[in-house]
Amino acid sequence: MSAKRPHGRSERGRTRVSRRAGVLSPSGIRQFFDLLSTMEDVISLGVGEPDFATPWHISEAAISGIEKGYTMYTSNKGMPELREELARDLKTRYGLDYNPETELLITVGVSEGLDLASRAILNRRDEVISPEPTYVAYEPCTVLAGGVFVPVPTRVENNFKVRAADIEALITRRTKAVLMGYPHNPTGAVMERPDLEEIAGLAQKHDLTVISDEIYAQLVYGIKHTCFASLPDMKERTVLLGGFSKAYAMTGWRIGYAAAPADIIESMTRIHQYTMMCVPIMAQMAAIEALKSGHAAVKEMVADYDRRRRVMVKGLNAIGLTCFEPKGAFYAFPSIKITGYTSQDFAEDLLVEERVAVVPGTAFGKSGEGFVRCCYATALDEIKEALERMGRFVRRHRVKDESAAKR
Ligand SMILES: Cc1ncc(COP(=O)(O)O)c(C=O)c1O
Repeated sequence: MSAKRPHGRSERGRTRVSRRAGVLSPSGIRQFFDLLSTMEDVISLGVGEPDFATPWHISEAAISGIEKGYTMYTSNKGMPELREELARDLKTRYGLDYNPETELLITVGVSEGLDLASRAILNRRDEVISPEPTYVAYEPCTVLAGGVFVPVPTRVENNFKVRAADIEALITRRTKAVLMGYPHNPTGAVMERPDLEEIAGLAQKHDLTVISDEIYAQLVYGIKHTCFASLPDMKERTVLLGGFSKAYAMTGWRIGYAAAPADIIESMTRIHQYTMMCVPIMAQMAAIEALKSGHAAVKEMVADYDRRRRVMVKGLNAIGLTCFEPKGAFYAFPSIKITGYTSQDFAEDLLVEERVAVVPGTAFGKSGEGFVRCCYATALDEIKEALERMGRFVRRHRVKDESAAKR
């Protein structure tokens, strides 16, 4: 009878799940999402997703493709027209020349791009250095590819930028790559050109590949995004990952891309062709339209995020949750120090007492302790109401003596 069988074991006592899959912990964000889906009247600043629907002309391009019978597989690398549009886009935005035939691959979101890049680059036990707090998928992708994830803590005092010296201190002969994503999830930090140039210097000096997740490239406020691959000599060392999910409000379409040297794209394509085959043609048709004429819509959404960002950051600081100014993505990452709470307890009690969902900073690694992530891709009225509720919560839980805060 199965009741006698130990959990996760076959009848003959074997563990059913591989060790590699078993070591992955569930995403802290998903756990939270599950809890909040059981509650009513919750304002969610939790999940990092635009609240806009995909601009209609982009959706329409896919609908009209389906009507014309475009419902088949495409080339593994993605439709030639899409790769050509993408090459044009990268040239216009960054002055970069990518060959659409050999240096671009259309992926199932940046998520697949991260997995493919890790598997294409890493040998067993190769080390990947990555800033922490970190996006939740970076470590699992490294581990699943057989690599070792080496987090490099970043600090609010330095606006959560990663310092080249801190990376260099962790480099060993096993270090193969640096994996970073700016504008940054969860902190909203950006790295400006001089900051990135120092990392480029390290990549040259230690012969490293840089996986640069630039999914939030278009979501910057009062600052210019620098593409890592556009730095001198860096195109040959960079796997640039980009997407449509955030800028074009296309999370559900599941489409992104990788731009990299031909040998890396070839390896990534080989894995992709046996696992995904290709990205759904409907999503590719929508992406072509997005690249051709989605810019005005992106501009409008960015202006809206900027308004919300200002309200969020000002409001958090006003209630005592000190927040450095995020210049990119759509996240604020305030300190909760004045409450004395751990990040996890803060998020749980805030949800239960005031029905506001934020993500504990520790969902993004140990260096996230003492912070929570608040996504402001939410209607302005909701943000204002959430701030009211958080203000009440903080007033109730503020510690008298901050030095006694138990963190
Ligand atoms: C930094 C970062 N990279 C990648 C992703 C995944 O993006 P996609 O929807 O393109 O798979 C996200 C989504 O939240 C993200 O924040």
